[in-house]
Amino acid sequence: MMKKMPLIRILFSVFVMMSVSCSVRTTDDSDKKVDDILSQMTLEEKVGQMAQITLDVIGNGAGRHESNEPYAIDTVRLREALVKYHVGSILNTTNNYALPSAQWNEIISFIQKVAAQETRMKIPVIYGIDATHGVTYTVGATIFPQQITLAATFNPVHAYNMAKVTAYETRASGIPWNFSPVLDLGADPRFSRQFEGFGEDPYLIGVMGEQMILGYEGMTDSIGSPYKVASCIKHFMGYSVPVSGKDRTPAYIPDHVLREYHLTPFKKAIEAGAESVMINSGIINGVSVHASYDLITKLLKQELQFEGVVVTDWMDIINLHTRDKIAFDNKEAVKLAVNAGIDMSMIPYEYESFCDDLVALVEAGEVKESRIDDAVRRILKMKMKLGLWEKPVTRFGDYPEFGSEKSAKASYDAAAEAITLLKNTAGVLPLAKTVRVLVTGPNANNMRSLNGGWTYSWQGEKTDRFAHSYNTFLEAIRNEIGEANVKYVPGVSYVEGGNYYEDKEDQFAQAVQAAKSVDAVIICLGENSYTEKPGDLNDLTLSANQLKLATEIAKTGKPVILVLSEGRPRCIKSIEPMMAAVVQTYLPGNYGGDALADILFGDVNPSGKLPYTYPSYPNSIVTYYHKPAEEQKRAEGAYVYESDYNAQYEFGFGLSYTSFTYSNLRTSSPVISDNNQVEIIVDITNSGTRSGKEVVMLYSSDLYASLSPDVKRLRRFQKIALEAGETKTVKFEITAKDLAFVGLDGKWITEPGDFDIQTGNLKTTLKFK
Ligand code: BGC
Repeated sequence: MMKKMPLIRILFSVFVMMSVSCSVRTTDDSDKKVDDILSQMTLEEKVGQMAQITLDVIGNGAGRHESNEPYAIDTVRLREALVKYHVGSILNTTNNYALPSAQWNEIISFIQKVAAQETRMKIPVIYGIDATHGVTYTVGATIFPQQITLAATFNPVHAYNMAKVTAYETRASGIPWNFSPVLDLGADPRFSRQFEGFGEDPYLIGVMGEQMILGYEGMTDSIGSPYKVASCIKHFMGYSVPVSGKDRTPAYIPDHVLREYHLTPFKKAIEAGAESVMINSGIINGVSVHASYDLITKLLKQELQFEGVVVTDWMDIINLHTRDKIAFDNKEAVKLAVNAGIDMSMIPYEYESFCDDLVALVEAGEVKESRIDDAVRRILKMKMKLGLWEKPVTRFGDYPEFGSEKSAKASYDAAAEAITLLKNTAGVLPLAKTVRVLVTGPNANNMRSLNGGWTYSWQGEKTDRFAHSYNTFLEAIRNEIGEANVKYVPGVSYVEGGNYYEDKEDQFAQAVQAAKSVDAVIICLGENSYTEKPGDLNDLTLSANQLKLATEIAKTGKPVILVLSEGRPRCIKSIEPMMAAVVQTYLPGNYGGDALADILFGDVNPSGKLPYTYPSYPNSIVTYYHKPAEEQKRAEGAYVYESDYNAQYEFGFGLSYTSFTYSNLRTSSPVISDNNQVEIIVDITNSGTRSGKEVVMLYSSDLYASLSPDVKRLRRFQKIALEAGETKTVKFEITAKDLAFVGLDGKWITEPGDFDIQTGNLKTTLKFK
């Protein structure tokens, strides 16, 4: 069966086929080539293709976990892996930090040389990397805002641009496979990887995710282009909502919830052509996902007809034995995972046991050779599509646009369109450029807290070493209004070498004192960088030291502008009323300082919107698409219900320096059926005095349904630019399918009845018959 192509790619291919006469390698052709290679391979060679090791395993050094500096390949270890064990894939950087592109080229060229000259089958190695917001592990690459920040733009072009530039710069480093994008549902702000995804709404994640796939893999070309990479959508699926909020702990997700909210973005990305899928490291309903035949084979490979490569997450086969205790030894773990449908194991250290165990399992008939053939066929096909036989390594010299001004501008533009104005009492912002300010707080003067994890190193702790030439918030504010007008006292700092959450008072009294002699205070609070288990959290409230700094500064009576940079929304309820303005920058990347300064001083009109619900309290974590029962109010009588829905700021919220008025909401028909498409039309006017951008969002609410319906759901959005006084008409088209939900039988259904349709402050009703 041919892989499904997204409509946009089909249209382009038809155009190309009509206008250019060239020889196109057909799928059948490559299928034949792959089968031909497969038929010549020994069992050991096939199993080796399913093995992926980390770079330090083949490096000079005492062990497999780190290498001597500077990095050099240990040729004996490399040959052991590639020639003796036939290992087919390598990932990651060495010693957990970024390398110069020339070194990447050298490392990968050498690996490919050994694969081509010394292995019997001469199959190129596929190298994979986490280039999740720009090429994390290549010095000088263009670093973009994190995905959560892109989501706040509500402008899919930024997702496309980031992926396009990242694909180019990943290939410039000689690497063809990227473990990105993250399509996990960001429904729980406690989770340490909230910033890696596109927020809490399945539709928004799907739209942005699709653009990333097209940016990575090509809108008009294919991954065979030297400017494109194979993407890897992750972490399939239900990874982001463990009950404890902590990484890699159990989640309990009913099947219909899994399908309606978690699966939707993955399905869309697969339809857009995603070449590979990484499996959720966690446990759902008691089942380790890496051992789930139902999720990997039945759902992903059979129902969704996914034909690409399914790779494990880090060490996750071994985890079935050592962590989850569902396999009594490594061999049993390998059997469970491969039989569940895993194609490649990110082992990543002790590859010998994976290979030996899998060969023994096949020989004993416990894993069928046809399962191995299926896995290897998928892997070889991806390698072939990437053109690895023809061009096993791409060369830095062929990539003049690496780290270019143009790419930097794309990163800046994304940050500038994402930064979200959450509060602006009496129009305190934008500030006049003549104002004297105090800049304070632990996030004011470092690049680490602007970028988050996966920046130059896994936890992002080495960022300031590599990103010192970019502007911190403080530096950008100084550039904007001149050094003389800017005082800086940290007040609170992160503990050097401590855990990400450790901060301490640092010239605290001086900061409060300095506030007294300025016109306004810009206080930069939030989080230091982290990801995965090291980012686990015990309390969603902002740290005590930071709250104290904000409180004491506010007591001076000066207007305080709270600037947040954080991977997840930390509760600020106790200080929020004292703040004159609140600006959410998320993790805005290397140009986030410049973008923030432009917004604070009015060069840019903010247009970002929250891609998640900002909670008021750690015990009130509720997404915007909650059930009516989560909004129970008690107006009269003696009881006050704390269970009332009480977001600090709601999903989709964000202010502007201008104002927008919605009018004339109309529909092409009051009735929607299975056979018609209804147009929903609305006029939006910029009723303020300066130009600005508005995100027009369309929500539907199913008034009554057989399963308690969500209070509302985002169905469409469009970002528009309006000059002062200008009016634009926005038209959305929806079908009955857009109003559906998943029933307890796991099937999508639209039930007859009334639906409220809402955009801005306007509402109308559609009847489904
Ligand atoms: C993460 C993945 C990542 C992989 C490879 C894992 O720990 O969960 O998202 O792709 O490491 O670095």
